[in-house]
Amino acid sequence: MQKRAPSEILERYLIRNKELAPLTTLRIGGTSERFYQPPSERDAALLICALRDEGSSFYVLGGGSNMLISDGSIDTPVISTSAMTDVSFELRGDEVFVECGSGAELKSIVRMSLDNGWTGAECLSGIPGSVGGAIVGNAGTQEGSMSRSLHSVRYIDESGSLRELAADEVSWGYRHSSFLGMRNTLITSAVIRLATEDSRDVRDRIRRAMHGRSSQPSGVNTAGCVFKNPPGDHAGRLLDAAGCKGLAVGGASVSEKHANFFVNAGGATARDMRSLIDMCIARVEARFGVRLELELRQVAI
Ligand code: EPU
Repeated sequence: MQKRAPSEILERYLIRNKELAPLTTLRIGGTSERFYQPPSERDAALLICALRDEGSSFYVLGGGSNMLISDGSIDTPVISTSAMTDVSFELRGDEVFVECGSGAELKSIVRMSLDNGWTGAECLSGIPGSVGGAIVGNAGTQEGSMSRSLHSVRYIDESGSLRELAADEVSWGYRHSSFLGMRNTLITSAVIRLATEDSRDVRDRIRRAMHGRSSQPSGVNTAGCVFKNPPGDHAGRLLDAAGCKGLAVGGASVSEKHANFFVNAGGATARDMRSLIDMCIARVEARFGVRLELELRQVAI
């Protein structure tokens, strides 16, 4: 097999001046000067090696559902996982091993579970975003999170080497995984372990989980919950009680429906959103002495 020169791979997948806002659920973000969308694990590894060789770090963009990307031009390369979306599965006894590219949407896994009567992914229903992003941030609901159904994960480390970890080799916390602290690392795929069950029971549980989200805004541009829940309390309750609902900066506002959701009602910039976030942190801290921590990940801010 012919080995590709590093510069060739950097040219091959380069998209210049890619607008990032449409790739996020908040519809906020500037332009990536160097945007890459490798179609396979192998190409992603070659790309990361080439970036390392030229001394560049990079940002990873998954489903863009939990991200606040800065305005303006972003010169740090961005690698999108959106072309790595293959999903396949293998049945072993009453277990199902679903292998998915990191760019696969969580909702496609929930859909497959629903169609086939597989249990284990119910706690992920209604969560936007990609499998890779859900692993990094251990996405979930009050019923459980990604770490619970993950079997193993493959990723490319800072040196460009392909690695694989069993789920119990990753350290997990509430909306946290050890991947959050790893620079220049890209998750390429994962295996989710589910089990076969009566599809009616699975459907009922997914319906109940979706019902739990009826208190959240839908059909508007948000990034899910902005803040993590502090121990023993809920960020939404604290923000609401501190009078944050309806506060606005430019085009960014705090949802009237659920105070831990911030909305881009049109034309909001990252700067508007960041000012609103700071205003709300200050209000809650002044009122309750609790300093809220961001769940939303900030890129280039
Ligand atoms: N509340 C208010 N005012 C509000 C919003 C909430 O008083 O404006 C109160 C509610 O009445 C309730 C409590 O706060 O007593 C908790 O609210 P909710 O049931 O909506 O749950 P949450 O803690 O705000 C968490 C997750 C959500 C997940 C839901 C359902 C976090 C930060 N949030 O929300 O996850 O969908 O449970 O399982 O852990 C996300 O992480 O992006 C997310 C949306």
